[in-house]
Amino acid sequence: MAKITQDQAHFLLLKVNSLMGLVPIGVFLAFHLGINALRTVGPLQYQLSIDLINNLPFLLGIEVVFIYAPLLLHSMVGFYIYFSGKRNVRHYGYPRNWLYTLQRISGVIVFAFLIYHMGTTVAPKLFYGKDLFLAAPFLIDVLNAEFQTWTGRIIYLIGITSATFHFANGLWGFCISWGIIIGQTAQRNASIVFAMVGLALTGLGFATVLEFSLHPVSVTPTVGG
Ligand code: HEM
Repeated sequence: MAKITQDQAHFLLLKVNSLMGLVPIGVFLAFHLGINALRTVGPLQYQLSIDLINNLPFLLGIEVVFIYAPLLLHSMVGFYIYFSGKRNVRHYGYPRNWLYTLQRISGVIVFAFLIYHMGTTVAPKLFYGKDLFLAAPFLIDVLNAEFQTWTGRIIYLIGITSATFHFANGLWGFCISWGIIIGQTAQRNASIVFAMVGLALTGLGFATVLEFSLHPVSVTPTVGG
């Protein structure tokens, strides 16, 4: 069997990494922002969605396999690309070069945001043993407190914008990398569609931040409170 060269291995790594950014990470992001936006419908709707997630069997296993491990791998490959790639925006000011640079910067911001975000939600939830129906009141109070300060709001607005940009721009990169859109017109049209997807997800995230900021409502456990 022919051995693969270093270039081929590098090429394969980039392809698999761009696929991972779409599935499962991108799919998770879209669902996550969608589910959190249930807070704009009402506190009970939001609470029930957290109840559902926190009553899933093998929750930690599902999260590790489908969220944490892919996120960690994607980030590690991302940092490898960040430190090994050429930043040519200074030489060529084309929008695509700028977007490529922004893709890497937004990736670093999302990584930092995730450390903060999981450190204030999932980590204390696990630390204080707030599982099953106790998770929702606990997490909702954490978010209520975070969104009462401008620091909290700004961190979330930056985190959301960076994540949705990284995802929408990454979708374009994925389609190019996998040869899904080839012609120039198709590539231009795709960038418009993906920009709209990004804006829609940003809108969901911003609406959630606004709702939490304006109406910090605490809840009692749906069962056993
Ligand atoms: C309005 C914005 C957001 C809100 C209100 C929010 C809320 C939450 C909550 C409550 C949890 C804990 C879920 C649980 O343990 O049951 C969580 C976890 C998590 N969030 Fe967010 N989040 C927001 C934005 C984001 C963004 C932009 C990202 C991606 C960059 C993100 C990534 C994650 C990840 C990876 C987890 C851990 C996996 C999980 O427990 O589901 N979140 N978020």
